[in-house]
Amino acid sequence: MISIKSEREIKLMREAGILNFMTHEEVKKHIKAGVTTKELDTIAYNFISSHNARPSFLNYEGYPASICVSINDEVVHGIPGDRVIKNGDIVSVDIGVELHGYHSDAARTYIVGEVSREVRNLVENTEKALMIGLSKIKEGAKIGDIGAAISEFAHKHGLSVVEELVGHGVGTNVHEDPDVPNYGKAGTGVTLKAGMVIAVEPMLNLGERYVYMHDDDWTISTDDELPSAHFEHTVLVTKDGYKILTGDKTSDEKE
Ligand code: MF3
Ligand code: CO
Repeated sequence: MISIKSEREIKLMREAGILNFMTHEEVKKHIKAGVTTKELDTIAYNFISSHNARPSFLNYEGYPASICVSINDEVVHGIPGDRVIKNGDIVSVDIGVELHGYHSDAARTYIVGEVSREVRNLVENTEKALMIGLSKIKEGAKIGDIGAAISEFAHKHGLSVVEELVGHGVGTNVHEDPDVPNYGKAGTGVTLKAGMVIAVEPMLNLGERYVYMHDDDWTISTDDELPSAHFEHTVLVTKDGYKILTGDKTSDEKE
């Protein structure tokens, strides 16, 4: 079932999204060589808790931390721990925030210190792929339009698209219908309607698209051990486009 959010729900989801953005900004300040992923997790937990909210991922299907931190060949769902971030790493941070019963979900990938030009391109093009996917969103468009645009852009830049994980609806649950794949055929799939809220989250690889799950039953990494990047926003579908719910607060003032 795909829910259509009321005005009231949209307001609450925007609040959850703003707090998500603010949590990302807080974590970002601490991303540098020498910090452990567990320290980032604690910073996020404390920040979210101090705003009368809770981390959506904590205990989600048994997930043991507040955020996901995935480094280099880790695609998503890296569990924070003792691992120390070092120069030359790319670090994906995925955050879910639940506020007044509504969730928001957003991810970013950071470059720490110096990386090769191809790794920089991977990160920059994954963020661009997200924005290109979002640009297809409006009432009447199809879910397949989003994935088709993302995969076309990725392939044009020599990147591959992870297919085992997909975007999703967001609302009173962090994962709702519909699935939002990062591949597909334009003009196919569910028709978008104003009031739907979806998370779009391309995971693009420098090498091949294949991934495996670690023995921890969470961390997903690339088979070929080449790096992977991940960007995600939770967005509202509108009559003529979309609104990013997990963006900066000041973006509301222009409307
Ligand atoms: N943020 C992930 C997503 O985008 C979900 C993480 S699930 C967790 O769908 F259990 F790892 F928290
Ligand atoms: Co998500």
